[in-house]
Amino acid sequence: PHKYYRRWRKNGPVFRVVRPNGLPHWMVIGYDEARNLLADPRMRKDVTELYEILRSVSPDGKGAGASEDLSSHMLNSDPPEHTRLRKLVSREFTGRRIAALRPRIEEITKNLLDEMEGKDEVDVIEDLAGPLPVMVICELLGVPYEDRDDFQKWSKILLDADPNVDTAAISQKMSDFLEGLMVAKRAEPGDDLLSSLCVNGEEADRLNTKELVAMAFLLLVAGHETALHLIGNGIYMMLKDRDALESLRANPDRIPAATEEVLRQFGPVGWATMRFTDEDVKIGAVTIPAGQLVAISLDAANHDPKITPEAPRLHQVDENPKHLAFGHGMHFCLGAPLGRLEANVAFTQLLQRFGGMRLADPEFFPEWRLGFMRGFTSLPVRLK
Ligand code: HEM
Repeated sequence: PHKYYRRWRKNGPVFRVVRPNGLPHWMVIGYDEARNLLADPRMRKDVTELYEILRSVSPDGKGAGASEDLSSHMLNSDPPEHTRLRKLVSREFTGRRIAALRPRIEEITKNLLDEMEGKDEVDVIEDLAGPLPVMVICELLGVPYEDRDDFQKWSKILLDADPNVDTAAISQKMSDFLEGLMVAKRAEPGDDLLSSLCVNGEEADRLNTKELVAMAFLLLVAGHETALHLIGNGIYMMLKDRDALESLRANPDRIPAATEEVLRQFGPVGWATMRFTDEDVKIGAVTIPAGQLVAISLDAANHDPKITPEAPRLHQVDENPKHLAFGHGMHFCLGAPLGRLEANVAFTQLLQRFGGMRLADPEFFPEWRLGFMRGFTSLPVRLK
């Protein structure tokens, strides 16, 4: 992508484009501009408007991604709904609750690595980066891990929004699955986050079933695909830079800074997050008129030469690098502490146990999943 960014930067930090499907929109690729706009209340999510656009470029409705019901969650809402939804869930998603998960995350990671012991070759995505975040999010939310094959398959289809797949039917399956779960939790609440969301809070303020289903969908999807790719992308970067791998292995206290650099250089959230301008917005020399679709590229912003002229290697990151990989402003990633914790534990244990690991084929370039998410579908590694 860096080649594109270099070319794009000739247009300045904010510019207008027309996509091949005829959709016009604005691109924001400068770090300062992206950060300012993400915190600007005039930049709205406006999911109804976004759906109209998606329908207009996909007239038969196929491939439009998750249904509007599933998508009406906090990540797609504006204040005052966003404020209410975020408050209800952040009360459950506390730093304390996440920090308390550390021993369990360490145990799950250890068990997954035990399974690798004795094998010559493993797939880091299938054997570690995939299962770890799903097990953790299932336990946290109270979603049966046995159902993972179904909901993982559905969420991948919905995220990829493949125009050849009837996403409406898949959305319905996902909604039915989640609604069934909510009904069961209301009847018999457990000690998990979704049960708390079902029963806690003032009655007037409590989430209704539709809101609960959308929230459960968001937490389930946001909580595993992203962390999977953070772990996969990080391990790939370490395997490509032996010195970094050896150095981080010898100095595990530097792993959290390296994780931040992975997020900056190779963050899991794909090319952009979308907003609409509520009114004319002047940014530097450019004015984006009201009612325009704006793609804020977190990744291009993270590669703005103004913030990091040269990419440091993973073991040479001195302080926490500036980046927007978790977004910024009111939608800043609610799961950032959890994602960081999972990645740090996975990197630390993997380097300790299998420090000699190598890419199975040094020429191997893993298959990309480019779309909303950015990362690999498999990463074969030789342990011996
Ligand atoms: C929001 C990235 C992990 C839950 C976001 C946003 C980004 C992001 C960029 C903001 C998008 C926007 O402004 O449109 C990441 C990355 C992760 C990660 C790179 C890597 C590990 C997680 C995890 C969870 C989670 C583990 C746990 C459930 C959420 C939620 C929001 C969000 C609920 C919506 C917040 C809101 O709208 O107020 N994430 N995420 N994320 N993330 Fe994450």
